[in-house]
Amino acid sequence: MVISDAVRSAIDAEIAKYPEKRGALLAALHLVQREHGWIAPETAKAIAEIFEIRAIEVMEVVTFYNMFLDRPQGRHQVRVCTNLPCSLRGARELVHTLEQHLGVEAGETTPDGRIHLGHEECLGACAWAPMMRIDDTYYENLDAEQAKKILDSLK
Ligand code: FES
Repeated sequence: MVISDAVRSAIDAEIAKYPEKRGALLAALHLVQREHGWIAPETAKAIAEIFEIRAIEVMEVVTFYNMFLDRPQGRHQVRVCTNLPCSLRGARELVHTLEQHLGVEAGETTPDGRIHLGHEECLGACAWAPMMRIDDTYYENLDAEQAKKILDSLK
């Protein structure tokens, strides 16, 4: 997948903020993933060329952080936080409910490619537990019915 001129310009703007190019690698990966939905091997190679590092170094970063995807998943990334504070407020039951509602298990994508359901570590919103992140948006103080309605509204 080719990195668009607009994303390439945005990456260059990020690089300009750091004394060393490599400092902008995470920002670049976010930009590219937003454009492509995931980081394909050929995309990692293109990023490596921009940053003058090896593609394996890019993939090491991609596979280390769970916010980066090294394979295509659903159009929407739904991540329910299951860390302790959220679990104490029903997050594990919430995941189970959503699994049943969507007909998939956590870690899977719905057959229509609409939603990839997964767990997440603490997202820093413990005071509003239980919560989930959908793409870049937080949904907090959830109950099962609210969460199902939110998922149903996703295109
Ligand atoms: Fe869920 Fe912190 S434990 S947001």
